[in-house]
Amino acid sequence: MISRSTIDRIFESARVEEVIGEFVQLKKAGSNFKGLSPFTDEKSPSFMVSPVKQIWKDFSTGKGGNSVSFLMEHEHFSYPEALKWLAKKYNIEIEETEQSDEQKEQTNERESMFLVSNFAKDYFHNLMLNTNQGKAIGLSYFKERGFTDETIEKFQLGYCLDEWDNFTKAALAKGYDLKYLASTGLSIVKENKQFDRFKGRVLFPIQSMSGRILGFGGRILTADKKAAKYLNSPESDIYHKSKILYGIYQAKKEIARQDNCFLVEGYTDVISFNQSGVENVVASSGTALTSDQIRLVNRLTKNITVLFDGDAAGIRASIRGIDLILEQGMNVKVVQFPDGEDPDSFAKSHTSAELKEYLETAAQDFINFKVSLLLKDSNNDPIKKATVIRDIVTSISKIPDGIQREVYVQECSRIMDISERVLFSELAQLLKKEASQRNKPSSSYSNNVDPNQPPAEYFYDQEQASMELVKGTQVASQKIDQLSILENEIIKILLLYGNEEIDFSEELSNTDEDGKETFSNRKYQNLVSAEIYLHLQEDEIEFTNPLFQEIYTEMIHQLNQSEKLEIDKFVNNNNTDIASIVTSILMDEEKYQLSNWGSKSIEVKSALEVLPKAVSDVIYNLRRILIDRLVNEFLVQGKEYTNEEKEEIMSYNSLRIRLSEKLKRVV
Ligand code: CTP
Ligand code: MN
Repeated sequence: MISRSTIDRIFESARVEEVIGEFVQLKKAGSNFKGLSPFTDEKSPSFMVSPVKQIWKDFSTGKGGNSVSFLMEHEHFSYPEALKWLAKKYNIEIEETEQSDEQKEQTNERESMFLVSNFAKDYFHNLMLNTNQGKAIGLSYFKERGFTDETIEKFQLGYCLDEWDNFTKAALAKGYDLKYLASTGLSIVKENKQFDRFKGRVLFPIQSMSGRILGFGGRILTADKKAAKYLNSPESDIYHKSKILYGIYQAKKEIARQDNCFLVEGYTDVISFNQSGVENVVASSGTALTSDQIRLVNRLTKNITVLFDGDAAGIRASIRGIDLILEQGMNVKVVQFPDGEDPDSFAKSHTSAELKEYLETAAQDFINFKVSLLLKDSNNDPIKKATVIRDIVTSISKIPDGIQREVYVQECSRIMDISERVLFSELAQLLKKEASQRNKPSSSYSNNVDPNQPPAEYFYDQEQASMELVKGTQVASQKIDQLSILENEIIKILLLYGNEEIDFSEELSNTDEDGKETFSNRKYQNLVSAEIYLHLQEDEIEFTNPLFQEIYTEMIHQLNQSEKLEIDKFVNNNNTDIASIVTSILMDEEKYQLSNWGSKSIEVKSALEVLPKAVSDVIYNLRRILIDRLVNEFLVQGKEYTNEEKEEIMSYNSLRIRLSEKLKRVV
């Protein structure tokens, strides 16, 4: 792990405008910079960078954050990858936290395996381009398949000589340890002898999302029936077949930009598509799709289009895997190629425009595709048809979004000529079974967090769960909304003005000698954050949104430590959900600058003037809602109340009236 002090140093040195400036053309706009969103194709700028706050926000997609989150979004780096990129840019030496000897060894082993794999990639590639044999055999094979120099470069294709140990010898001569040649599977070691695993094969390096070499696929050049057509790296500490998608490194940008990913079977499908100008494509490399692979795509887009070869047998085997995609809340489409064609051959025999047109027009919604496919099989045999229904409903039950499920049920009812009621009851049964197994709302809910909204779990009401699962209504969303808007407002005030000291006033009630109540005003100065803390603590108010609660708790902690809020701590939070909510709130204040209205100084002044009222309003409103809730809990229909209870309701009511008077508003 990268040490805390290194992370701090990276955050101190990184300038968000410099980092983003490497990817986006930025223009000065007031105290900020603006530019065209790198996440959409837009004509007028909605992308904004604040050097003062060290954050960015893309108003066209709602994304935002600090330098690290920009790299994670734009380059699709993981958190440590983003930190490493910044460390390199700013010449910061990375210090790892104390690891146990075992951990250290493991990290070193993996690093060594990556190093030797990278060497192998370069070796095979250069050998193919620069030696006579390489050119005559490897390069000419790829040329025959129609791959251009550019394509060969882009995918770093290579060739391993048809000799026993040419590569292994070269690697050892360069000082690479035989141990890592063996653990990566590049060399096969037997009784003091070593052989090249990929002897005589052309090679497809397999890269991670960030471009590291994980392993290789090697294709045989002869039509030898006994040897496998493709030989892949063996499973190892760096090569996990089930977590790899071939082509993801080259495709990631286009997948995000097109907001769709084409999924094919083979290396050559990916490469041919790229050459035809369709770059948002990855391959599962001939294996059944896994959840880990889908998760890789899910980081980039919600939409997958699965491409099937012409032969029908393959399709039936693969459609099972597609339920896994639905399960992650993704939208699945299917394209079937004409009989006898695979994506590679189709791309070769058509122009780029024809290919793109075909992908668009032949794309079918997965559930519809499955229904028509299975119905064809069942030939109207009622027993088979019942199996088909169950099969389809199983697929539908994997979709986390209730509204989408409902749409599919209606659609299937129409295509299969079965009443919706039958399908819904089948669906409800399946969902009930699953719910009892999980006893928890679907985990996929949390995959797609909109930082401006409370997490989906908050729209979820356990009692109504089974009903909601079928009908897909967003339960209780309204009730929660008001609260979450207020909570958002409180956090916003704290973030923007928490450290300001301003005048507040307080109404004191006195009882005079005649027993009459009089009111007087007391003015006092206080930190905005301290004032809010005082009130919330008095009422023991907790936030319903757990992220807000976490932010608030940390703020209180900071206040206790140093009587000052450190906003950076939230912007640069490890928890990306927190960083994202906070930057979003901070940047919304800057939005008007995009259209260059008004002058900043006026804004700030007026904001401070209305602040005392804003603070008390938000707190009173929060109280009012919480009191309403308490009253509602009491008011059970048809219930006889004890005197005590009646008194309590009365006192709540009078409190409510008092509060609304303060707000100068009628409840
Ligand atoms: N595959 C594999 N091992 C095999 C056969 C296939 O790993 N023995 C994987 C490869 O990733 C291959 C994919 O399955 O790309 C699809 O197989 P296939 O359609 O047979 O290969 P193509 O990609 O079409 O290869 P080519 O066009 O070179 O025959
Ligand atoms: Mn092929």
